[in-house]
Amino acid sequence: MATPSPRKRQALDLFAPLGPTYDRYANLLSFGQDPRWRRFLVSRVPAGTEDSVLDVATGTAAVAIALASRTGCSVVGLDQSTDMLEIGRGRVTAAGLDDRVELVQGTADELPFEDAAFDHLTFTYLLRYVRDPAATMRELARVLKPDGTIAMQEFGLPRAIPRLAWELWVRIGLPAAGAVISPGWHEVGSFLGPSIRDFHRRYPPAELRELWRRAGIVDVHSRRLSLGGGLVMWGRKE
Ligand SMILES: C[S@@+](CC[C@H](N)C(=O)[O-])C[C@H]1O[C@@H](n2cnc3c(N)ncnc32)[C@H](O)[C@@H]1O
Repeated sequence: MATPSPRKRQALDLFAPLGPTYDRYANLLSFGQDPRWRRFLVSRVPAGTEDSVLDVATGTAAVAIALASRTGCSVVGLDQSTDMLEIGRGRVTAAGLDDRVELVQGTADELPFEDAAFDHLTFTYLLRYVRDPAATMRELARVLKPDGTIAMQEFGLPRAIPRLAWELWVRIGLPAAGAVISPGWHEVGSFLGPSIRDFHRRYPPAELRELWRRAGIVDVHSRRLSLGGGLVMWGRKE
């Protein structure tokens, strides 16, 4: 097996200890906004009962479960972390969705699927963790059928006064709240602010949309949510 890139290694190490506590604290640390952003993401995907949707970076399968229960489609959830997937499998069973949600281990940089295998595709909090976001976007677009919808959920970077509150939260509140929970969450709490800032510096909104277009995605739209703290982007494969 190829040696993981430093970014991939970092993501693997970061999420391995979180699995059992991920859902409880991810909601808490986003002030309860994460489920709202997820609902909006799912509302952008026009999936029907006959459709097959790929959810990349599925983690503990929150988006995969929401997609299958709200639209009746079948979902394949893919993640590189076996620890996150293990928790996800328990949640899928608890939701009674074993017949419609399958979770597989794999990497977004090299998806184990044929070209145009899926009707629609979603991915959440992924591009900050990959070595080459442009190459990853091309790989995601490859497995999507023409005209299929691709939709992303990511943290946004608030502007003006909300940005001041955000900076206070990610510099002080989040690392401190993480430290109270566990060493793993302290690491995530300290990592997130710089990671989100760095991503939006490298890919400001216009550049991010251009990245999608270069991957063959058209009709690209985006919505900033919760005063800019969340970002949902969606488009259609040409
Ligand atoms: C913040 S979690 C999000 C999990 C889930 N989508 C959610 O919204 O709750 C990010 C996930 O991305 C996964 N991930 C990061 N880089 C990846 C890659 N290159 N391929 C597949 N999964 C990746 C991590 O293992 C982790 O489960």
